[in-house]
Amino acid sequence: MSSAPTQPDLILPSPPAATLIYDDWYPAMRAQGLRRGQTATTLLLGLPLLVGRTHEGAVFALRDSCPHRGIPLSCGWFDRSGVTCKYHGWRFDPVTGQCRDIPSLTPVDTLDPSRIYAGAYPCVERDGYLWVYVPAPGAGRVRAEDVSAPVPELPKFSAKFRSAHLTAELPCNVDHGIIGLMDPAHGPFVHQSWWWRSGKSIHTKEKQFEPIPQGFRMVAHAPSANSAPYKLLGVYGEPVTTTIDFVLPNRRYETIRCGDKWFASLTTVTPVTPTASRIDVVAAWNIFYSVPLVPQIAQAFGRRFVEQDRQTMVEQARGLRYHPALMLIDDADRPAKWYFALKQARLKMAESGGAFVHPLDGPVTLHWRS
Ligand code: FES
Ligand SMILES: [Fe+2]
Repeated sequence: MSSAPTQPDLILPSPPAATLIYDDWYPAMRAQGLRRGQTATTLLLGLPLLVGRTHEGAVFALRDSCPHRGIPLSCGWFDRSGVTCKYHGWRFDPVTGQCRDIPSLTPVDTLDPSRIYAGAYPCVERDGYLWVYVPAPGAGRVRAEDVSAPVPELPKFSAKFRSAHLTAELPCNVDHGIIGLMDPAHGPFVHQSWWWRSGKSIHTKEKQFEPIPQGFRMVAHAPSANSAPYKLLGVYGEPVTTTIDFVLPNRRYETIRCGDKWFASLTTVTPVTPTASRIDVVAAWNIFYSVPLVPQIAQAFGRRFVEQDRQTMVEQARGLRYHPALMLIDDADRPAKWYFALKQARLKMAESGGAFVHPLDGPVTLHWRS
């Protein structure tokens, strides 16, 4: 059963928007391919960004808007002397955003250009991404040294490892992207394939969860015995355990350990705008380290897996445009309920300036069939 949309996009109702979590790090884009002296533009939490790498190698993220009259800074020029606005030639330091020169000023003017700043955001390169810290709107200038939240990092358990990245645009808001990411019951339907699972292999699962700072953990357990990738790990003859963490605002960490062999992934769903998001997966492993083609094969399977999720969300987004009433059921949708509760706690904290009140007060066992 498959049907194409019958109406052109323009006459559809607008998609539902999500409330956004500010004051945290988000992956703005892949760092690969951004060479010294190059820039690129992207959108993050609805914010237009001009990102780039200086000639000295530092990465930066500026609001792609000149503080003088709002023309995108990306319309101007970037060279060793900084970012120059196309309209009146104001020049800015790319890392701090500080204005260095206003060409129209004469000795008669008393204006000090160095007191003017273009919007500049803390930007760090890690695990192949440019992570940008997005402060709440109107928060003023935030310097990297003012940020206490650590930059997210994919855990690695050995000096030598291989890694891969995947990215897909999701036409739904960040909330639907994230609950899709943490959804335990869609596997047998969305990810039907000989190497993963089939609808026939559905069985009852019982998993322990516990609260962790800003999130929850599916406690280390033996992974689903009916999935081929886990069966493969059996060749090492050691017990296999999987731990899955969700951490606000948008991170899912999965770690598979098998003796000194390991596989780790960090998946994020990032709001590009309040109504659209992007999924990014970075994975690293030392499993089958020296077996040729494993990275290529892993990437091909990973891509297919993410594509199955993406395709489903494209279809879901078509339905969500009509703002239907939805439901969350126990226990299969409990992780989604926890996500919404965690998010509310975080938004409340941001609003009141008080402490983060964790909605989970202890370990919980969930049961579902998948
Ligand atoms: S708009 Fe940028 S310098 Fe005037
Ligand atoms: Fe999925």
